[in-house]
Amino acid sequence: MGIVIVMPGRDEDAARLRVALQRLDSDLEVWIQPDIPDPGRVVSAVTWKHSPGELGRFPNLRAAISYGAGVEHLLDDPSIPAGVTIARTVDEGLIRDMVEFVVGRVIEHRRGFRGVAADQRTSSWVPRRYPPHWDVLILGAGRLGGAAAEALHHLGHRVTVWSRSGRAPVHVSSIVGREALLEALPGADAVVCLLPLTGATRDLIDASFLARMKPGSLLLNVGRGAHLVESDLLPALDSGRPAVAVLDVFTTEPLPPDHPFWGHPRVVVSPHVASLTDPEGVAGAILANHRRAVAGEPLCDAVDVDRGY
Ligand SMILES: NC(=O)c1ccc[n+]([C@@H]2O[C@H](COP(=O)([O-])OP(=O)(O)OC[C@H]3O[C@@H](n4cnc5c(N)ncnc54)[C@H](OP(=O)(O)O)[C@@H]3O)[C@@H](O)[C@H]2O)c1
Repeated sequence: MGIVIVMPGRDEDAARLRVALQRLDSDLEVWIQPDIPDPGRVVSAVTWKHSPGELGRFPNLRAAISYGAGVEHLLDDPSIPAGVTIARTVDEGLIRDMVEFVVGRVIEHRRGFRGVAADQRTSSWVPRRYPPHWDVLILGAGRLGGAAAEALHHLGHRVTVWSRSGRAPVHVSSIVGREALLEALPGADAVVCLLPLTGATRDLIDASFLARMKPGSLLLNVGRGAHLVESDLLPALDSGRPAVAVLDVFTTEPLPPDHPFWGHPRVVVSPHVASLTDPEGVAGAILANHRRAVAGEPLCDAVDVDRGY
């Protein structure tokens, strides 16, 4: 009884994951879709952006494990039987990389490093002043948002997290509910979105949200593209709320070549690379969850399907 890897377009990751899994357990059966001699032997599927319906051909499937932290591709697949547990994979490397990305971008903008680079291009000696610390509001206090909040707090910034339950790292302020969020926005120098995409968080960052942001502030979206109403962003940037948007995720990925975000002077685009799953890094967690599935035990990092994350 083994694992199938279903990751269309990610052949290299799939091959590396198979090698890493079999290095941990040389008896483990691992197949890469579509080369599966006996679909009845598949107990766990590791997937990333598979096509809906692709998992329906495994009659003994017990675990559908996302190759990354997001699970929309699994929750959006109505063909996955109700008895199959959906889980996600978040390892220390993924968390560290996200923390680096968020902290790096916040520091880059607080310290004006982009301006310093522009000054060098014109041989201009401009000692730029910068504020002693920033007020940072992080939407999401989970594995990634919580870790980013902790890191920024340890660097001396005033950090607030917004979550559903009020969860927050020690010494980090926490707010709950839409009203509290709207009240917090005008005081935040940076707003970082690290939410999962659910019915409740889709389109959260719209014109009314952006209009409440602090003039000159930074918006950093590393959650999912659909958290932001993209057509509302350019008018908001024109009004200076926010002054800059750093976007790693987009409604349509890859971002189309003619999209106005590419050439906008105050939009910083990156191609969904804030934090990438490393096949060797996650193999141990995936194998452990597969063994739990075989033994009929609850999976780690299981997703609450009703809650959507
Ligand atoms: N750009 C990239 O490269 C990249 C890489 C990995 C992940 N991501 C994104 O990052 C997201 C977060 O990952 P994670 O591992 O930190 O997730 P997580 O551990 O599940 O945490 C999610 C957080 O969001 C909060 N939340 C969910 N719905 C909410 C709502 N309606 N209102 C307020 N707060 C809400 C949760 O509140 P509670 O604490 O109260 O439950 C929790 O704090 C992923 O879902 C994925 O979309 C992006």
